Amino acid sequence: MTQQTVYFVTGTDTDVGKTYVSQLLLQYFNQSSTAIGYKPIAAGASMNDGELKNEDALILQSASSLQLAYKEVNPICFKEPIAPHIASEMVGESITVSGLTQWWNKSKGQCDIALIEGAGGWRLPLNNKEYLSSFVKDIQCEVIVVVGMKLGCLNHALLTLETIKQDGLIIKGWIANQCDSPMNFYEENLAYLKQHVDVPFIGEIKVNQTIDNLILSHL
Ligand SMILES: Nc1ncnc2c1ncn2[C@@H]1O[C@H](COP(=O)(O)OP(=O)(O)O)[C@@H](O)[C@H]1O
Ligand SMILES: [Mg+2]
Repeated sequence: MTQQTVYFVTGTDTDVGKTYVSQLLLQYFNQSSTAIGYKPIAAGASMNDGELKNEDALILQSASSLQLAYKEVNPICFKEPIAPHIASEMVGESITVSGLTQWWNKSKGQCDIALIEGAGGWRLPLNNKEYLSSFVKDIQCEVIVVVGMKLGCLNHALLTLETIKQDGLIIKGWIANQCDSPMNFYEENLAYLKQHVDVPFIGEIKVNQTIDNLILSHL
């Protein structure tokens, strides 16, 4: 295997389509390569075959080229769908950047392209001092930003992109996701972002988009 490409998929918020888009990206990459999806931290899970499993991680696991054991895809999983640093305090298990980096150093390298889905948005707290973004900085991978095209997304998109750049990371590009219905004035909002954002535009994901007519650039 040549050098592995690693992407971290973040979004403008929770529920903006990070998982939906990641699944499509995995399918897209797996047409000509090997790609595995990871979900390091998940909050919101139910018992399945004797262990807590999260829906996002299961989706990524099944879209991957290699079916890893659940715990390899999702090492940190909480039952409650709440902020992970609060969930971790409730169960007395701390989440740290160094713990995540150690996990990643052991897990990486099993495919050509690894796609790591974040949790929440860019500045997700891990504990009282650290953020998930520091893990991305630690492993120095490129970032893909999913913009959930809903009211408020212009502000969220601009702030997110600006902050990732300030954090010194490379943004591979951004993706406009229509979520579960097209927003009012979708085209106008999309045009504004295309004009004002100076990172590559990877493409548009329509409502119920499938791999069939997916057009992506810059990947
Ligand atoms: N392009 C889309 N078409 C149809 N449904 C979508 C689309 N994007 C997201 N959804 C749905 O919206 C919900 C939130 O998306 P999800 O990918 O789980 O967001 P996130 O991972 O950012 O929390 C899910 O039910 C998902 O299936
Ligand atoms: Mg998700």
